[in-house]
Amino acid sequence: MIELQFMDKNKYFTLHTFGCQMNQADAQRMRGILISLGYQETENEEESDLILFNTCSVRQHAEERLYGRIRSLNPLKQKNPDLIIGVSGCMAQNHKAELLKELPMVDMVFGPNDINQLPKLLEETANKKALGSFAGKGTFEGETTDGIVLTRPFSAMVNIIRGCTNFCSYCIVPYVRGPEISRPIEDLLAYIKDLASKGVKEIMLLGQNVNVYGKDLGMKEGFATLLEEIEKIDGIKWVRFLTSHPRDFTENAIQRISALTKVCEQYHLPFQAGNNRILELMRRGYTREHYIDLIHKVRKYIPNVSLSTDIICGFPSETEEEFEDTINLVKEIRYESAYMYYYSPRPGTKAASMKEQLSDEVKKGRLARLIEVQNQISNEESQKQVGKTFEVLVESPTSRSDKRLLGKTRTGRPVDFEGNSSLIGSFVKVKIDSARNWTLSGKMISESGN
Ligand code: SAH
Ligand code: SF4
Ligand code: F3S
Repeated sequence: MIELQFMDKNKYFTLHTFGCQMNQADAQRMRGILISLGYQETENEEESDLILFNTCSVRQHAEERLYGRIRSLNPLKQKNPDLIIGVSGCMAQNHKAELLKELPMVDMVFGPNDINQLPKLLEETANKKALGSFAGKGTFEGETTDGIVLTRPFSAMVNIIRGCTNFCSYCIVPYVRGPEISRPIEDLLAYIKDLASKGVKEIMLLGQNVNVYGKDLGMKEGFATLLEEIEKIDGIKWVRFLTSHPRDFTENAIQRISALTKVCEQYHLPFQAGNNRILELMRRGYTREHYIDLIHKVRKYIPNVSLSTDIICGFPSETEEEFEDTINLVKEIRYESAYMYYYSPRPGTKAASMKEQLSDEVKKGRLARLIEVQNQISNEESQKQVGKTFEVLVESPTSRSDKRLLGKTRTGRPVDFEGNSSLIGSFVKVKIDSARNWTLSGKMISESGN
């Protein structure tokens, strides 16, 4: 345990995390650091000595909401001047010192690549306001399994690649997360083995573009190689990954990955827009035709695959006809689920300076139409799951009743069923008898013994 001078009594922290799985994985680490410093976690802000906001900058709305949320802590801060309010994550990196100025109640700001500075920053903050160094480059230094606290002891997120060098024209991520850096394969495998020895059965591999894993280390098809190596690790039963990039996912990789039994049949393949002119303006590096062909390949090698995607509508200059190309792509592919957004200009990105910005009314109108089409497809795809039997990793009791349990299929769908809470963390088989929206309900037919 690291000793901090000011830790003279029991201290509590509250950690709020926004944004993507990268931030969730970072929260996993921050929790570990804070607990090793002697803090305890609480959801009650009133009793907290430290309230940390791990933030997202991907859309303007996310940033605005956060400003409001932090300002609302003013009364608490007045009551307890020793309370430390910290901002970490992408918005901290994006706005740095400005945040300390604009939000006087904030005491500490540090970026997503400065997490290992947290003990030092807390020490400094005990005397005055503290600001991280914002080095901008991610490293994997000091990331051991000792440094993380898992919400579910059998499931862990593993960052395989930090940052992003794609610079899609709408996106803030490369600016706030720095360039792509892969974690060396030996280091990664040792880390995953360590997780397995601690009882982790399921891992989620993370990166903004997992398909270029190892490229910066001189590897070719490094991602498929990594998955083949993980397949050999005893104790790890299920492997998922996020996010795949349609430009960099090769047929060779799909074929090699489809031969692995531990890799789950869940592919998240964001297409963003269905029209080639818009895709080019977005700098995505693929065409609609390439994307559709890729989906056909994925379905050829993995026939029971569950597909999901991300879509942006209302990109600057997008016409009604071009938007319809997005709608008909959604209808053609029939995703089980989709994350859909209207375009939000991010200052400093290329698309934000385009003249042909669309009105909020048009953007929101398109989004509403898209959501309606996709919701119908999602519901139809959900109903198709009725009658099937799935292997399920049991995660928790349901919020409604402790006799009912909640788990997840290999395809990433939540399933509830009746069972004893001693099954949490194990694999069972469940036959589905109904579906509402994304969630399935069924009856346990066996404990599959994993
Ligand atoms: N690396 C991932 C995406 C990370 S950001 C990829 O390339 O697919 C998550 C999602 O947020 C993106 O897929 C995109 O759909 C959305 N997004 C990013 N920037 C946005 C913006 N400026 N406005 C609206 N949505 C945006
Ligand atoms: Fe953003 Fe594109 Fe990188 Fe994804 S690949 S994080 S959308 S720049
Ligand atoms: Fe948001 Fe940062 Fe993720 S901007 S989407 S939390 S990488």
